[in-house]
Amino acid sequence: MLPTLQARTNAALNSCLPSETIPPKSLHAAMRYSALAPGKRLRPALVYVTGMVFGGADSVLDAAAASVELIHAYSLIHDDLPAMDDDDLRRGRLTCHKQFDEATAILAGDALQALAFESLINNTKGISAEIRIEMLRVLTHASGPAGMAGGQALDLDAVGQTVTLSDLELIHRHKTGDLITASVLLGYLSSAQDDSPVRKKLQKYSECVGLAFQVQDDILDVEGTTEELGKPQGSDEELEKPTYPNLLGMSEAKKTALRLRDNAIQCLQEIEQDTSTLEEIADFIIFRNS
Ligand code: IPE
Ligand code: IPE
Ligand code: MG
Ligand code: MG
Ligand code: MG
Repeated sequence: MLPTLQARTNAALNSCLPSETIPPKSLHAAMRYSALAPGKRLRPALVYVTGMVFGGADSVLDAAAASVELIHAYSLIHDDLPAMDDDDLRRGRLTCHKQFDEATAILAGDALQALAFESLINNTKGISAEIRIEMLRVLTHASGPAGMAGGQALDLDAVGQTVTLSDLELIHRHKTGDLITASVLLGYLSSAQDDSPVRKKLQKYSECVGLAFQVQDDILDVEGTTEELGKPQGSDEELEKPTYPNLLGMSEAKKTALRLRDNAIQCLQEIEQDTSTLEEIADFIIFRNS
C-alpha cells in the first residue's frame, strides 16, 4: 500500500511545485530538493487511506495529500536549521541549509508553507466552499501557534529543563501529532462529508497514532542507525532534548507506543466502515525502523 501511495504523492507534489528553470531558481530548487527528497510520505498516506474509506474524490485527495506533505517538508527544513536542531542530514541527504544556504532554506520553508495553502484552495474546486474552508481551517490550525509551530516552540523551551511526562506529551502532541490529525481529517473532509460523531472518532484515532509516531521517533533516535534513519542518530541526546526514552526508560517508552496503538485501533472499531488500512498504518507507525 505505502509504495503506491508514495508514488502518487510524489506525482501530486511534482505537479504543484514550481519549476527550477523559472526564477527565483535557487528558491525553487531548494523547495523541490527538500519536498521531493525520499521521505516516508506517511501523512499523505493517511489522507489517501482515510479518503478511500469514506469515498473522497481523487483530485481532492491529491490536493490534500500534497498540502500536508508540503507543510511537513517546510517543518523539517526549519527544524534542521542551526537555530533549531542544527542537523546536517535529512532523508539521507544534506539538509536544505547545508545544500543551499540558511537564507534560502528559511525562504524555501516559508514558500512551501504558503504553497500548501494555495494548492489546497486551487485544487479542491470539486467540493463545496464550506468543506474547502473547513479543510483550510484544519490545516492552518494544525500548522500554527496552537499546532506544529507552537509545539516546536515548546520543544525549544524544554531544552535543558526538567519536564514532566504531561509537559512532554503536550510538546509531542503539538509538534508532531497535530499535523497527523490534520492529515486524517483532510482525508475525511475530502469525501465532502463532515459528520461530527465520525469525525470525533477519527480525531481520537489520529491523536493516538500522532503521539505514537513521535514516541517511536524518540525511540529510533536511540535505537536506529543514521543510515536507516537518513538523519543523525543520537541528535536528541546531543541537544539534551527531553524524550520518552529518557523520561520513562526505553522499556516503558515502547509500552507507551504499544498502548497508543491499541487505543488507536479501539477508536477504529467504533467506525462502521472497513478501516483495516488505518489499522495497518497504526502498526507501521510503531513497528517501523526508519
Ligand atoms: C520526521 O517525520 C519529523 C517528525 C515529526 C518526527 P518523518 O519521520 O515522517 O520524516 P520523513 O517525512 O519520513 O522524512
Ligand atoms: C520534529 O521533531 C517535529 C517537526 C515538527 C519537524 P524532531 O526534531 O524530533 O524531528 P527529527 O527527529 O529531527 O526528524
Ligand atoms: Mg526538533
Ligand atoms: Mg529535529
Ligand atoms: Mg526526532
